[in-house]
Amino acid sequence: MKHFINLKDIPTKDLRKILIDAKKRKNARRNLNNLDVDKGAPLKGRLLIQMFEKSSLRTRLSFYIACRQLGGGALTLRPDELHLSKGGESIEDTAKILSNFGDIFMLRTDKDRKLEEFKKYLSIPIINGLSPSSHPTQILSDVFTIEEIKKKPISKLNITWIGDSNNVLNSLIAASTKFNFKLNIGCPRNYHPKKDTMRYLKKNKNKVSIYNNPKKAVENADVIVSDKVISMNDKVDKIKKLKYFKSFKINTKLMNFAKKDCIFLHCLPRGDEVDEKIFSSDKSKVWQQALNRVHVQKSILLYSLGKLR
Ligand code: CP
Ligand code: NVA
Repeated sequence: MKHFINLKDIPTKDLRKILIDAKKRKNARRNLNNLDVDKGAPLKGRLLIQMFEKSSLRTRLSFYIACRQLGGGALTLRPDELHLSKGGESIEDTAKILSNFGDIFMLRTDKDRKLEEFKKYLSIPIINGLSPSSHPTQILSDVFTIEEIKKKPISKLNITWIGDSNNVLNSLIAASTKFNFKLNIGCPRNYHPKKDTMRYLKKNKNKVSIYNNPKKAVENADVIVSDKVISMNDKVDKIKKLKYFKSFKINTKLMNFAKKDCIFLHCLPRGDEVDEKIFSSDKSKVWQQALNRVHVQKSILLYSLGKLR
């Protein structure tokens, strides 16, 4: 079994294997319905237990459908219905029960250390479905979407991030090291990545550049990726932060500095960081991006359970 917590800790060859499997599976079920099962039902008899400590629409639905398409079952837990927090039951005891009843555990958490604590006590794999410091399933799926649309390995493309230095960006930075692509980050000076991310950047001799000028960041971009300026549980002065990001709004004027065929991606939900015109234009591939979560997460489930073809 293999845990899926952070992209930086997973070998590139494994990440590539996941993407190859996802492509094969997606192609093989073009005409099937949402809950039709893949040939061979590789997760028949298996149960995914997922728990969300923060809101979710896409991750919740896509993991549910992913497991069902593999022939398994999925159950979603609400932390406020367990004894875990307010009832005083420990992570250790909770993890033992999850391991006895389920086959794989997906956790969206508001504390990174909980992923590590669960991992310590679980005897089944754990998948990180978003934490304060990363969102690995989203970004691996975004790499899939980019290569699907651009029909090229991501290493041959210029990726630009316009937005906050948040969990999604941290995973994008890890992906840039793993898949060796050029990444420009455009964000206001006082919202640059934190020290540990900068340390990771230095250590990995990657192709990441940070700009305080959004136009410079999007120059020559094949893909512009963005996210909400204010993330869930972001305890900041929201008005002040939004003000700093005002000139980073993605609109036609900014997109014109990128390549002509540049596409726009956003993990969703969106805020005010992109204007309606770009969001609903042909350049925006956000719905295809959201749907691809199902396909990539199927292969992540198989990888974690040691069943990747
Ligand atoms: N992109 C994403 O993870 O969406 P949800 O928060 O709705 O799951
Ligand atoms: N950065 C966002 C991502 C939501 C999917 C958040 O953490 O709220």
